[in-house]
Amino acid sequence: MADSYLIKGGKPLKGEVVLSGAKNVALKTIIAALMFEGNVTLKNIPRINDVLDLIELIKSLGVKASFIEKNTLLINSSNLNNNRVDLQYGSKIRVSFMLFAPLLHRFGECYVPNPGGCRIGARPIDRIIKGLIALGIQIDYDTETGYYHAKILSKPKGKYNFEKPSHTGTELLMMIGLMSDDEVEINNVANEPEIDDLILYLNSAGANIIEEKNKIIVSKSTELKQKEAFTIMSDRNELVTYATLAVASGGDVTIGPIDENLITSFLEIMKKAGAGVEEISNYKYRFFYQGKIKPVNIETSPHPGFMTDWQPSWAILMLRATGTSIIHERVFENRFSYVEELKKLGASIDFIDVAVENPEIFYHFNHEKDRTYQQTIKIQGGIELHNAILNISDLRAGAALACGALLATGESVVNGASILERGYEDFVEKVKKLGGQIKKA
Ligand code: EPU
Repeated sequence: MADSYLIKGGKPLKGEVVLSGAKNVALKTIIAALMFEGNVTLKNIPRINDVLDLIELIKSLGVKASFIEKNTLLINSSNLNNNRVDLQYGSKIRVSFMLFAPLLHRFGECYVPNPGGCRIGARPIDRIIKGLIALGIQIDYDTETGYYHAKILSKPKGKYNFEKPSHTGTELLMMIGLMSDDEVEINNVANEPEIDDLILYLNSAGANIIEEKNKIIVSKSTELKQKEAFTIMSDRNELVTYATLAVASGGDVTIGPIDENLITSFLEIMKKAGAGVEEISNYKYRFFYQGKIKPVNIETSPHPGFMTDWQPSWAILMLRATGTSIIHERVFENRFSYVEELKKLGASIDFIDVAVENPEIFYHFNHEKDRTYQQTIKIQGGIELHNAILNISDLRAGAALACGALLATGESVVNGASILERGYEDFVEKVKKLGGQIKKA
């Protein structure tokens, strides 16, 4: 199968991008659908590799799932007949550990593989497992098979306080709370808008979830049943990819639909960098080049801060800035796999050491004193980029590499298209529509 992009870069990109549905909502709404009675219809589900793999996974458990329109997915889990997630599927899709919720709901016990290593850091689920235990779930881990065995001894209830917030952890514990006859309270939760969308979906089907500041309370809910199709929110990560590419290429691109609240911190930083940003009616934003790009330093942080998923795209814009800028990654370790690859295009990027007073608190991953981390890069902007052969190793880095090649003169090869397409729908078609020269090979 063709798994590379051939890209001839150097042209300003112009036109319009219609955003797809958010990957990080689609995956969770599909998993949660397995806790519903009857049919569940989900609209705006992107046909991306992560979603397609998840659909294969749930089908392997006996669930019926099919697209009835390009982005409308119909799910029915009445034939769910297997409480063991296959290792091969589980290892492909990190969020497969969220199947703890529907499998426990249906069977009272289940076997789920450890999502294991990942290209953006160790990504353990220690805090999440502690949370499950705190809510009354019995969990054993078999180091030989790599499987968790979880069992419900009595209906979940009680409180859990995340040491440091976790996005998917918050969502999973919330879904566990749906099985409570009493109340589940989760503190120090993540606040990403994708979580709000999941709550909207669950509450519209009979759940009783209340969000307060840094706290989620799930009270006894009725059996979940969908009253009408649910449309998931747009992908703000996709917006950031195209917006930074548009401006970095010297172009002019309108992107939507998007709610301003989802991208406030991004809009502020774009304006600070001197990018043209204009709100157009109907939830659309225009991003355009209007003169020199100023270097702007960023630090990633959970919502409402500058998201970790956006930093590889920020590096792309900063390659065009008139000076040096710094990116400090606080959420994940090892999220700079694009650096060595962008250097092949001629980019000047160096890792630097920045002293941090309380790294255990400052960083959102589990910081170990004796380990060396590379969490900060310095980018020298304004250097002409030339063609190269690049290799994608993780999703957001992949988007940065394809965008880097779109800025570079000459023809580049970007290998690993299927990794980028885990999260970007119709990438080739959307770039072509903006006048970009890209094809799969
Ligand atoms: N962490 C732990 N232990 C845990 C849970 C998290 O050490 O038990 C660490 C993680 O390794 C990370 C930090 O805590 O360093 C924050 O992780 P979090 O759990 O919040 O991230 P996640 O739920 O695994 C989701 C998105 C990511 C997005 C982050 C931050 C999904 C499927 N993934 O990951 O999206 O970057 O939240 O918002 O929702 C992507 O789309 O490319 C992507 C990586």
